[in-house]
Amino acid sequence: MHTRYGPPDVVRVLEVDKPAVKANEVLVKVHATTVNRTDCGFRAAKPFIVRFFTGLLRPGVTVLGNEFAGVVEAVGGGVTSFEPGDRVFGYCEGRFGAHAEYLVVPQAGSLATMPAGLTYEQAAPSTEGSHYALSLIRAAKIQRGQDVLVHGATGAIGSAAVQLLKRLGANVTAVCGPGNLELVRGLGADRVIDYTVEEFTKDEQRYDAVLDAVGKSSFGRCRRLLKPGGTYTSSDLGPLSQNPLLALLAPLLGPLFGGRRVRFPLPRHDPEMVRYFKRLIESGQFKPLIDRRYPLEEIVEAYRYVETGQKIGSVVIGVQPSSWA
Ligand SMILES: NC(=O)c1ccc[n+]([C@@H]2O[C@H](COP(=O)([O-])OP(=O)(O)OC[C@H]3O[C@@H](n4cnc5c(N)ncnc54)[C@H](OP(=O)(O)O)[C@@H]3O)[C@@H](O)[C@H]2O)c1
Repeated sequence: MHTRYGPPDVVRVLEVDKPAVKANEVLVKVHATTVNRTDCGFRAAKPFIVRFFTGLLRPGVTVLGNEFAGVVEAVGGGVTSFEPGDRVFGYCEGRFGAHAEYLVVPQAGSLATMPAGLTYEQAAPSTEGSHYALSLIRAAKIQRGQDVLVHGATGAIGSAAVQLLKRLGANVTAVCGPGNLELVRGLGADRVIDYTVEEFTKDEQRYDAVLDAVGKSSFGRCRRLLKPGGTYTSSDLGPLSQNPLLALLAPLLGPLFGGRRVRFPLPRHDPEMVRYFKRLIESGQFKPLIDRRYPLEEIVEAYRYVETGQKIGSVVIGVQPSSWA
């Protein structure tokens, strides 16, 4: 829990009441969750705009965590899709609460039975980075055969984006640091740029879309990489929080830039999305990357590590000791 905004050590592990389920809700005993960049942003209230969603002075949401895997412990009277004992996984951004032993999820929420053969710790990191990656891909309207550059291909969003783009049939160039070149090729990237060797914005290839999955670039710097009509999208607001505005003004600005434009998706909750990722995992077309694992008692350490900005894929939290099985 965190009852004030601040650095990782505002988070404490406390006993709280087990939540009660309403008619159309499912009570999940959480076995594994993650600490991701969204949790960090809501805990620290950075960017400031976060406060408009979760409390101007102090957090309205005190238990964070937005992806989870666990077992259904109880269901409300109106629940028909799940029953006690089901192994489930899902996504609860907005409501949060997955950094706890028990979590209540609406049966119509982003919840599905777990992909066959996965452990809880493998299933938990399947929905957040991939959800943002899919939003970026959909916003850029990427199609089979198109050329796409992914900047920051080793993060949770970037590593999911590379895999989802390859599944779609795009030609993927990925940008990452020297230690992860083989890893990113293993995700399916056709070409990898080591950002310590080559400044990717000076690349000679031209792309239908540039996806910045770590928010370290800008439309201004990437424009020359885009073919006429190409799209720039980013997981972040941009250095001057300009991406939403540039996306809004795209119909006006597009003609000035040869039809090149910014799109900034507002990711929506889509319950079908979790079932889609389940199918991709079961058919071997998507495998979430996992970096470190921490037990719940060490969640402050997990936050510190995630905030280095150097994690590879996701950082998993074991909530029950059995989650490591
Ligand atoms: N739109 C939203 O609501 C939303 C939601 C979640 C996250 N985000 C944002 O999306 C971004 C990505 O989050 P994430 O969880 O996927 O991963 P992350 O923790 O931000 O990414 C870490 C990875 O980025 C790579 N990286 C760091 N600096 C880089 C650089 N200059 N160039 C290329 N790669 C670099 C690191 O690899 P190397 O060690 O190889 O550098 C590391 O593997 C964050 O900025 C986060 O704030 C936005």
